[in-house]
Amino acid sequence: MKEPIIRLKNISFSYDKTAVLQDINLEVYRGDKVGLIGPTGSGKTTLLYIIMGLLKPQKGAVEIFGKIRNKEKDFTEVRQKIGLLFQDSDSQLFCPTVKEDIAFGPLNLGKTKKEAMEIVKETCDILGLKGFEDRLTHKLSGGEKRLVALATVIAMRPICYLLDEPSSGLDEDTLHRVLNYLKNHANTYIVVSHDLRFIEATSEKIYLLKKGKLTLL
Ligand SMILES: Nc1ncnc2c1ncn2[C@@H]1O[C@H](COP(=O)(O)OP(=O)(O)O)[C@@H](O)[C@H]1O
Ligand SMILES: [Mg+2]
Repeated sequence: MKEPIIRLKNISFSYDKTAVLQDINLEVYRGDKVGLIGPTGSGKTTLLYIIMGLLKPQKGAVEIFGKIRNKEKDFTEVRQKIGLLFQDSDSQLFCPTVKEDIAFGPLNLGKTKKEAMEIVKETCDILGLKGFEDRLTHKLSGGEKRLVALATVIAMRPICYLLDEPSSGLDEDTLHRVLNYLKNHANTYIVVSHDLRFIEATSEKIYLLKKGKLTLL
């Protein structure tokens, strides 16, 4: 079998004395549609942060695209190719307008302004955000922010998505748009939720994170 995109080996992590993650092993291959479920506070967000290099585990190894990642600069490639949707939309959105936020990633990856604007249009079309381009981000509703945050991740065309509670604050109709996007356009992902129905609708392999341990359901 080919090299996994993500391989966590015996990862342990704690913020203070209490262990959040204990000896976690996980492999995600190209094409895997992974669901991660667990109670609030079980460490789901922490696990995604470790994959992105936003937190450093006290024990174990993070291997991405076949390379061990330790230092800050090891994660530059990871952050270009793996797209994280933050649990909190406000952590993702920092530009005045929707189009600037969506264009930010592509421009950073070296796209021209014209190319970036084409990506903005395409991405807005996919998510039903037509006409949102010039809206002020801070004036959007929670659900609209969720979609725009997702659009900023999609615009990077990541090889793998890490989606932290993508369904939170979305109405039924919007939720279907997100589900459709995942089904039709996203090849590899880990989707995190405490909502088993959403996980079952999106995932082929479901893990439960509880009391620091990861188990396959
Ligand atoms: N920055 C932090 N400092 C200290 N404790 C934290 C911090 N972030 C999260 N925690 C704690 O770590 C545990 C796991 O949090 P988190 O990964 O956010 O869980 P989940 O995403 O599953 O709800 C929780 O008990 C939470 O309170
Ligand atoms: Mg969380």
